Amino acid sequence: MKDDIRIVNARIWDGFSLKNLGFTVTGGRFSRIAADSHLPEAERTFDAMGMAIFPGFIDSHVHLRDFSTSYKEDFLSGTGAAVAGGFTTVLDMPNTSPPVTTAPVLVERKAKAREKILSNVGFYSSPATIDDVGALSGAGSIAFKVYLANRLEGTLDYSDTMQLMKLMSKIKSNKGLLVIHAEDATFFSKKENAGIDYRPVKAETVAIDKVIEAASRTRCSVHIAHISTEQGLKKVTRAKRDGTDISCESSPHHSFLDQENTSRTSLTYCVPPLRSKSDREAILKGVVNGAVEMIASDHAPHSLQEKQNEMVPGFPGLEVTLPLMLDMVSRGKLTLKRLCELMISYPCARFNLKDRGEIREGYWGDFTIINLKKKNRIRADKFHSKAKYSPFDGRDVVGSVYATFVKGRTAFLENRLVGTPGMGEVLEGNAIPS
Ligand code: DOR
Ligand code: ZN
Repeated sequence: MKDDIRIVNARIWDGFSLKNLGFTVTGGRFSRIAADSHLPEAERTFDAMGMAIFPGFIDSHVHLRDFSTSYKEDFLSGTGAAVAGGFTTVLDMPNTSPPVTTAPVLVERKAKAREKILSNVGFYSSPATIDDVGALSGAGSIAFKVYLANRLEGTLDYSDTMQLMKLMSKIKSNKGLLVIHAEDATFFSKKENAGIDYRPVKAETVAIDKVIEAASRTRCSVHIAHISTEQGLKKVTRAKRDGTDISCESSPHHSFLDQENTSRTSLTYCVPPLRSKSDREAILKGVVNGAVEMIASDHAPHSLQEKQNEMVPGFPGLEVTLPLMLDMVSRGKLTLKRLCELMISYPCARFNLKDRGEIREGYWGDFTIINLKKKNRIRADKFHSKAKYSPFDGRDVVGSVYATFVKGRTAFLENRLVGTPGMGEVLEGNAIPS
């Protein structure tokens, strides 16, 4: 039997450099990696025209919405934005409507996604109670998420240290990972028309202290979402050195934008808010030197009308994150190796994504073809997300996504979505049920 697809004339990323090698994919998995002349016959041959091919990029922080807010985004539009942005796997946040707090909701969400997704999707949950952790693990929750400043409807108040520690102990015994939106609401300004700093730096640093304390006592693995402050990052770095299993991610906006670019009523309003220039520089430095382990988009789509009238936080990020990072590489500010650690290997390792993250025989055939030299202007009106606005709109970048393949099948090619809804895989989670 012939292989399904053969990719020739490629330079593939092997974790260290780009090598002149091709490969085949069969039954959704890489089947042979070799020089073009040594590749077996296949049903279809794809000429990569000398472009760079990477294992599919992973975005561990995405709000695909759907359910009752599918006017903001749904599984098809959200995963369309993902593959257009070069991602083959995204992890979906649980602050949906209804929220993913119990196993039945998770099961329903997975079933709905299965029909529509173009990329692979893993699902977070936010346990309603400590007792829900086991069932959520069993139902395939990829990791757990808590919002310390505003808990999801129907969940316990995990900003209470005792509850947080109980939750961590339970997650630890399920071999899970707890991702935390670390802000302490007691420090938020109560003023009517407070500015962008109504959620001050201290709200983040105090919450991070609380998380570190609880994680070091319970030995639970924790991950801080969208870290935004220099002090917060210092605390995480220190805790890591002291032996706590803690990691963190930055969003592109907290790395590339600061307070000068925002106000509470502008499209760039998000939480945690954009910070000072020095915070932003410290975060970006951490991204470059490894203190920040991952880049994740925090793709948070809302309708334009909501953004303009209701001060809802967040904006789409899936279609700008990789181009912005590739542009850093083109300007010599980041190595390709570091980019791949931030957006492929670390997320794969941290979320224990099995058989992904490398172009390797037997692994899932997810890969992204990049034109490293192509100049591009970020155009929000061309987004595949339903949310067609961006604080990065109009920015010129070098490096662009040419094609995205999921399980050996083309999902995105030359600016067009070409995949079939349902082609992505629903990740089943890795936790060992208690
Ligand atoms: O800006 C944000 N938007 N921050 C969050 O934590 C939530 C997100 C959303 O869901 O819109
Ligand atoms: Zn988020």
